[in-house]
Amino acid sequence: MPGLLLGDVFPDFEAETTVGKIKFHDFLGDSWGILFSHPRDYTPVCTTELGRAAKLSSEFSKRNVRMIALSIDCLEDHYGWSKDILAYNCESSETNLLPFPIIADRNRELAITLGMLDPEEKDSDGMPVTARCVFIIGPDKKLKLSILYPATTGRNFDELLRVIDSLQLTAGVRVATPADWKPGVCVMVPPSMPEEEAASMFPAGVFSKELPSGRKYLRYTPQPKDQSKHTDTGNSQTEPGTTSQP
Ligand code: BEZ
Repeated sequence: MPGLLLGDVFPDFEAETTVGKIKFHDFLGDSWGILFSHPRDYTPVCTTELGRAAKLSSEFSKRNVRMIALSIDCLEDHYGWSKDILAYNCESSETNLLPFPIIADRNRELAITLGMLDPEEKDSDGMPVTARCVFIIGPDKKLKLSILYPATTGRNFDELLRVIDSLQLTAGVRVATPADWKPGVCVMVPPSMPEEEAASMFPAGVFSKELPSGRKYLRYTPQPKDQSKHTDTGNSQTEPGTTSQP
């Protein structure tokens, strides 16, 4: 993604969408944001993705995340395609609108600015289409995460919720989340934090896993409670094979 790095302020672009013209930062307000792009309207993988995103929209709202999609087709196509997506989800809506807007980027201007094009995947005119790009933006309007999938691989929107849980947790507390982490499971103490500081910061305890190297860098602590308000599963666990740190 040329030019857009983690921590950069996300461009405050203007765009036509299925809910009218927006200025991106005003659209976000004080919320988190997720912007996800799609190759074309009326394509199969995209239909399943937007269907899944629509089904999970209340989960994104619970986490205070505003959703917005982008596809390089016109508004008229977006409106027609939205009806198909609702039908795919076996749902109807009086407005025929999805629970999030879709940006109409017919001239690919935004797709080019944001580095979203997939040069390997072309439309019938030989023009590159948008890849499956995900940007997650924090309330400070800075880019917190970017993912780029090729057009031929659909995304997992449950994984995006899991990632948001990690981003929101680690924005508020100095912890990191391990592979396959889920809310409620132990989190990791960052390697840069000295033992004494970790002990005072995490009164619930710090547990380190014994390793052949003898180094105590695999340090776990129960997820701090006040950060699990949306997603607490009551599933607090310590890792097997860990010992309490002195
Ligand atoms: C799809 O959404 O199904 C799709 C779009 C472009 C290339 C391949 C698949």
